[in-house]
Formats: sequence, structure tokens, C-alpha cells
Amino acid sequence: MKDFNYYAPTEVVFGEQSEEQVAHLIKKYGGTKVLVHYGGKSAERSGLLDKICDLLSKDGLAFVKLGGVVPNPRLSLAKKGIELCRHEGVDFILAVGGGSVIDSAKCIGYGVCMNEDVWNLYLGQAEAPKTMLPIAAVLTIPAAGSEMSEASVITNEDGDVKLGYSNNMSRPKFAIMNPRRTFTLPPYQTAAGVTDMMMHTMERYFTKDDDMDLTTDLAEAVLRRMKTAVFDVLKNPEDYRQRAQIMWGGSIAHNGLTGCGVQDDWATHQLEHELSGMFDVTHGAGLAAIWPSWARYVMHENLSRFVRFAVNVMDVPNDFSDPEGTAIKGIEATERFYHAIGMPINIRELIGREITDEEIREMTRKCSRNYTHTCGALKVLKAEDMEAIYKMARG
Ligand code: NZQ
Ligand code: ZN
Repeated sequence: MKDFNYYAPTEVVFGEQSEEQVAHLIKKYGGTKVLVHYGGKSAERSGLLDKICDLLSKDGLAFVKLGGVVPNPRLSLAKKGIELCRHEGVDFILAVGGGSVIDSAKCIGYGVCMNEDVWNLYLGQAEAPKTMLPIAAVLTIPAAGSEMSEASVITNEDGDVKLGYSNNMSRPKFAIMNPRRTFTLPPYQTAAGVTDMMMHTMERYFTKDDDMDLTTDLAEAVLRRMKTAVFDVLKNPEDYRQRAQIMWGGSIAHNGLTGCGVQDDWATHQLEHELSGMFDVTHGAGLAAIWPSWARYVMHENLSRFVRFAVNVMDVPNDFSDPEGTAIKGIEATERFYHAIGMPINIRELIGREITDEEIREMTRKCSRNYTHTCGALKVLKAEDMEAIYKMARG
């Protein structure tokens, strides 16, 4: 079993009245001038943005607003945010939205306190910052888990390069989660979000280590619950109880709890980031397009784990005489699940056309950072493995 540190300092404020506490919480964590950061139109349309701004005004908290964050958030807007925060003397960033808004907020939070280009952090070319502006989130889409995670993922439009940077310092001080705010999510975003959170747990579940039984039990509970709740909310988007399962599931799936004591993998995420970097697709859908091919490529590294997944998560009967057959049935059942919730199972279904050899070579080059990096842990993937998986996922 691997030794581990479990660090999840974010204060979670969950429920229908949770937004009422926003000003009190910002003050509690030292904020006096706030950047309210948000995305396209959803937070405006629902009235959430106005409500948050009213609550800040009523409590005498000064704020400035910066909207326009797009899915796969762009470096250029984060740089605008950095300038705005410096100019306005902002000391606290409140992200109102999903993973893209929170990640953009984290990038701004780093950049304000740095004397060099914030992108250098994502390139791995800057020293870890010693300080940053505090971040908090009012979550509107459960998916990325950024509301409790240490990661942020940013796309540099110059070259369509999508890179992540992780630092515990960036874990939000608090996360306000009101499941009612997710009633307006379109089915595709709902399903892509659930796919993403399940994958955050699967990246930690498919490991060489079988030792931390409790972690494995927790992971299976999260996966099974998400797998059923998603059908309930697709059928009835206003099912508060099931929206709540999913909202909390998204945080648990990525706050480290389902990774304690195991060696996590993350190859599917690394491979996907090139897809969303190049084609600007929804991250969760990109994961669904890659995972079945990754699974078939690596399953012999720990066949018994794939059998366990098939039986305990995907409800496949265990054929003890044919573990490989059982494992493959588990992957096929996952593909049927993705289709049933409207997700793709290969790149053709994801982008609506066949990907070219040249595009696969380009994604391989980026994913391997010019053939200098590997990814994954269950099977360490070299550039030729990455290329082979992209080709298998072509569809
Ligand atoms: O921009 P608006 O109008 O708000 O619309 C958004 C957006 O189009 C919409 N939306 C959000 N809340 C809504 C809503 N629509 C209706 N009602 C609501 N309540 O949903 C769309 C997607 O939003 P986005 O924030 O992009 O989704 P998500 O949370 O999936 O975030 C995706 C980003 O997170 C990164 C991904 O790579 C991607 O860039 N990730 C971040 C991680 C982290 N920081 O730990 C880990 C993840 O693996 C992931 O890589
Ligand atoms: Zn993800």
C-alpha cells in the first residue's frame, strides 16, 4: 500500500440556502475586494450572478466582475483577469460557474502574485509560487471537481495547447453547492459531467495496487451511485435528491478520497486534453471517446482489476473460467452506458468525422511533450503507445 497525505481543506457549504452565506464566507477567509468571475450566459440567465452581487453589496463587500470564460478556458482571458485584479486591488476571487471558471480563477490567482508569465507555471518552467490570491467557488455544474481540487487546466490559444498545473495552495477556501442550480444543465453537459467525475475515480481505481481495500470500496460506491443517478436526472432534470448525489459525487470523486493509498494513473486525461485542446470538445465527452481504447490496450497489466470493475460496477456476471472475457464484457458494458447517456465511445463519434493520421501524430507529439514525456502508471505509455491508443479510438 502506498503511503499518502490526504488534504482537502475546502469548506463545503451544501444545500438550497447555501448561497446566502457567500459574503460571510468571503469575509471569514479575509476577502475585502472581490473579483466575481463567471462564464457565458448561464449564471446571468438563472439570476444567480445578480443574486451573488446583491449579497456582496448588502454586506458591504466591494467587487468587480469579469465574465466570458469559455469551456476549455483560455489563457488570454486569465491574463485580462490578472491585469484587472492588479489595477483594482482585488484580494479574493469568487468563481461562479463550473470547472472552466474555477480553473481560470486559479490561473488569475497565481498570475497576480507572479513576476513572470503565468503560462510558465503550466509549462513547468516556473518555480512553484509561494503565495496566490485566495479562490472560492459557487458551483453550477458538477463535473471537473475543481471546487475541491488542487488542479487547474488552461488552454493557450497560441498553438491550442491545453496544460494543467497542480498546487495544493489553489484548493478553494470554500465551495457553495446548491443542487437546484444544476436543474438548468442541458442533458449533454449533465452526462459529460458525470462521465468526467466517474473518470476521476476510475483514473485512481485502475491501478497495479490492490491493497487499499477501503479506497476501492469507496470508489465502487461512487461509481455505482453516479451510474444510476445520471439516468434519474436525465429523465427528470429537477430531481433535487439525485442532482444532490451527483453534485457531491463530483467533489468526492476528485478531492483525493478515492485515491488514498493507490498509485493513480491519469493517462486517459492526458490523452483527452489533446483532444479538447485541438478540437475544443467537452472534456467529459472526450474522456468517453478515449477510455474504452485505453482500457483494451492496458487491461492485461491488471486483469483482475478489470474483472472486478466489470462485476462490481458494471453488473457483468463473473465467468471464473474466462477472466479476459469478463473484463472485455465490462468494457463493452461501459460503452453501452456511455451511449445510453448520449456520450461518444470513439473519436469519430466525438468530432463527427474521421480523425486524420496527421492529427493523431500532432496529438501524440503534444501529449508526449515532443517525445520527452510518458503518461500513465498502470501501464507507462510512451509516444508509440499514445499513438496506438489514438488509432484504436479512431472509430
Ligand atoms: O458558460 P456558461 O454559459 O456558464 O455555460 C456553461 C458551459 O457552456 C454550462 N453551464 C454551467 N453551469 C450551468 C451551465 N448551463 C446551464 N446551467 C448551469 N447551471 O456548462 C458548460 C460547461 O461548463 P464548464 O465549466 O466548462 O464545465 P466543467 O465543469 O466540465 O469544466 C470543464 C473544464 O475543467 C477542466 C477540463 O479540462 C475543462 O477545461 N478540468 C479541470 C479539473 C480540475 N481543475 O481539477 C479536472 C478535470 O479533469 C478537468 O480536466
Ligand atoms: Zn476530468
